[in-house]
Amino acid sequence: MKAVYIERHGGPEVLQFGELPDPSAAPGEVVVDIVAASVNGADWKVREGKANQAFDRFPHVLGRDFSGVVAAAGEGVRDLRIGEDVFGVCDVGQEGAYAEKIAIKAAIVARKTGGLSHIDAAALALAGLTAICTVEDTLKLKAGETILIQGGAGGVASFAIQLSKHLGARVITTASRSNHDYLREIGADEIIDYNAVDFATVARDCDAVFDTVGGDVAQRSFAVLKPGGRAAFIASGPQAPKPDRSDVVGLRPAVGRDRPHLERIAALVAIGAVRVPEVTRYKLSEAAAAHEVSQSRHFRGKLVFLVR
Ligand SMILES: NC(=O)c1ccc[n+]([C@@H]2O[C@H](COP(=O)([O-])OP(=O)(O)OC[C@H]3O[C@@H](n4cnc5c(N)ncnc54)[C@H](OP(=O)(O)O)[C@@H]3O)[C@@H](O)[C@H]2O)c1
Repeated sequence: MKAVYIERHGGPEVLQFGELPDPSAAPGEVVVDIVAASVNGADWKVREGKANQAFDRFPHVLGRDFSGVVAAAGEGVRDLRIGEDVFGVCDVGQEGAYAEKIAIKAAIVARKTGGLSHIDAAALALAGLTAICTVEDTLKLKAGETILIQGGAGGVASFAIQLSKHLGARVITTASRSNHDYLREIGADEIIDYNAVDFATVARDCDAVFDTVGGDVAQRSFAVLKPGGRAAFIASGPQAPKPDRSDVVGLRPAVGRDRPHLERIAALVAIGAVRVPEVTRYKLSEAAAAHEVSQSRHFRGKLVFLVR
């Protein structure tokens, strides 16, 4: 199979594009012929050796989410059939979606339902999973609450904005001016141009913060919370930053992998609560160019490989 991989991990690596052996299905696994796979913020960090992860087998194929067709089923797999359209996110600590084929536990892939195309499903998988685990499972956002979502135009944040609106919350978000119309269209109530205004002087008394930006933006986000507020962080490594006040909490969502969360993504799209983000398409052979855009951190929506 064709795949995009690195030869070692620990420092900046050049992406390789070439032929690797096809995977086979171990007991409980399926092999999926990948049709589309997405680029996630973690991918360039892995390539640069900046991910908080160790990989012990090389070549290491990058990529965490995909959509495709079941091509083989291992022993004991009874709930998925060859030829079915599925989408999924690799298990924690595993990667391998920048490829024509992947072997993965059947229990953590879901049927691609609800009229999603393969491109849509790949674009939504890890971003949607992360948004649901953060907004619903970790922040437990409720109707009538106000949430500040940092970095609104990104893949995770744009899903989180729509999910928060669906739950009945008021959404404030931050983005460059060129993304404001897009964010208004997907439901944001108030959009702060972070290049012109300090968000901490505008957003006040929030019940919750979801930070997808990291660094100083993450640390300063505690300031917008009302007493008792909670903030969740996904771009600050494995730990949430420590609050500089004692009346709020900082949380690092656990983003586990399972089928019900993927089914929730498809259901939210099917009922019209969430729409698919803007997608820029690439070929697998163009992975280096896609990483350059991802690493720039100033684009809208998702970058997706059309693999076949
Ligand atoms: N399971 C997990 O823990 C998990 C899963 C997925 C992603 N992540 C992490 O979450 C982060 C977000 O990932 P992503 O793929 O959704 O998006 P991303 O590609 O990291 O971010 C792109 C967006 O960030 C915005 N941005 C950059 N600097 C900003 C700032 N100072 N203030 C406000 N917005 C800013 C840009 O918007 P403008 O062009 O408008 O500036 C752009 O639309 C990444 O760090 C990723 O590694 C974690």
